[in-house]
Amino acid sequence: MYVCICKGITEKQIQEAVTSRNSNNPKEILKALGIGSDCGTCVEDAVKTLLDHSARSPIEMKDGSNNS
Ligand code: FES
Repeated sequence: MYVCICKGITEKQIQEAVTSRNSNNPKEILKALGIGSDCGTCVEDAVKTLLDHSARSPIEMKDGSNNS
C-alpha cells in the first residue's frame, strides 16, 4: 500500500529502510526516501508506519534473535 503517493513510496519500502539503515529515526528515514518532500500530506502516516514497524521488530533484535 502506498504511503507517499507523490514519491511512490510503499509501507514495505519504509519498513525495509528502517531495517536496512538500522535506524528508526523518522527524520532520517523520511529524508532518505524523499517522503514529505512534495505535498507533505503523507508525513503523519509515514511516521506512524515507521514507528509501528520499529515497535514490532526492534532494531536491536534484527540479527535473528527475534523469537516473537
Ligand atoms: S504524498 Fe508524500 S509528499 Fe505528497
